[in-house]
Amino acid sequence: MLTIAPLRDKRIILGVCGSIAAYKALDLASKLTQAGALVDVVMTDAARRFVSPLSFQAVSGRPVYTDMWQAEAGGGLPSHIAHVGLAEGADLLLVAPATANTIAKLAQGLADDMLSVTALAARCPLLIAPAMDGGMIEHPATQANFAVLRERGAQVIEPESGRLASGLHGRGRLPETPTLLGHVRRALGLGGELSDHKLVITAGGTREALDPVRFISNRSTGKQGYAIAQAAVDAGADVVFITAADLPPLVGAKQVDVDTAQTMLEAVLAQIAGAAALIMAAAVADYRPRRVAEQKIKKSDEALNLPLERTPDILLAVKAQRAQTGYPAIVVGFAAESENLLENARAKLGAKGLDLLVANDITAADAGFAVDSNRVILLDSGGGLEEIELASKDVIGAAIIERVSRLLD
Ligand code: CTP
Repeated sequence: MLTIAPLRDKRIILGVCGSIAAYKALDLASKLTQAGALVDVVMTDAARRFVSPLSFQAVSGRPVYTDMWQAEAGGGLPSHIAHVGLAEGADLLLVAPATANTIAKLAQGLADDMLSVTALAARCPLLIAPAMDGGMIEHPATQANFAVLRERGAQVIEPESGRLASGLHGRGRLPETPTLLGHVRRALGLGGELSDHKLVITAGGTREALDPVRFISNRSTGKQGYAIAQAAVDAGADVVFITAADLPPLVGAKQVDVDTAQTMLEAVLAQIAGAAALIMAAAVADYRPRRVAEQKIKKSDEALNLPLERTPDILLAVKAQRAQTGYPAIVVGFAAESENLLENARAKLGAKGLDLLVANDITAADAGFAVDSNRVILLDSGGGLEEIELASKDVIGAAIIERVSRLLD
């Protein structure tokens, strides 16, 4: 796993409570550390019955805090000030898994163990990932504690449904690490440079149906659009992610699933009201079958002629709506070209009324469709040109968001 820029050098206190899901917190601590964060683990007594502090120390590479009376906390800070030292300068306190008992303590402001005392001393955002069995999460007492914590600004991550430790099925599972990492990124992004800005981002190749089982599409996987949307969440934006791609849900974004150029057009026109920016990273089909067969098309010995018609051009429709409403303030388009890259890109920039255009040469094996890296040229409406060398789509996504943020300034 590569360093994730928004997590690099972030000080995260990971509070681990006594739930069977404590073993999942080991993976979380490991992934956060690999992503570049400095993870200080604080365990409750009950957590130590499930997982050993040594395991957390091994994956985080840092002392683990378990006892507020310890003379020297893990070779780190002297006990009487350990909680203050830990809390000071922390960027996030994440309690995962959080048990009903610790949630009740946090809601009441009790301070009788290293985790609860650290939580009281901390002034950073508090993110709680509950995990518990049976009806505990639904109990009015637990729900009232969530309400108190939310009222105070804490964020509570929705537990997942599925098989619980008791063998029962229900709501109470700790989400998997990628989902938890998504929540951490969102929490760290809050208050970022794009706070209070709505960004609409599209991704993926549209699918134009031929009959109930077949469609025409393209090689886009949606990865670049996804990375741009993730970078926008990291910057604190209010993100609407309109996607035709088959990728995991993006935590922190409102997702609108679409399939055809027409459904993407409708979603875009509906969502750009009040938007600061639209970033059209989707590979929209230019043609669709003139008629969608109701039944599966049967083969025959004759050649098959498929009359195609043009799909609507979404960016041209946006240009018209923007002329009326003034939104979105910034429009970013993409140009996927196999020849005359700059010439074609400049023509698109003007014709589609864009403020910024991201051009890529899709003939390169290491850039463009279906790979994790990309190499692009950013062209702006003022004639400016900026090349971004080969990099991961995450890095390119962050660069595009940084550029949009500068345009919005
Ligand atoms: N686009 C759009 N609506 C379409 C087709 C494309 O809004 N029906 C958008 C894409 O999302 C992209 C930009 O237009 O941001 C350019 O897409 P591209 O496929 O490179 O260009 P086209 O406009 O389709 O032109 P051509 O196929 O002739 O290169």
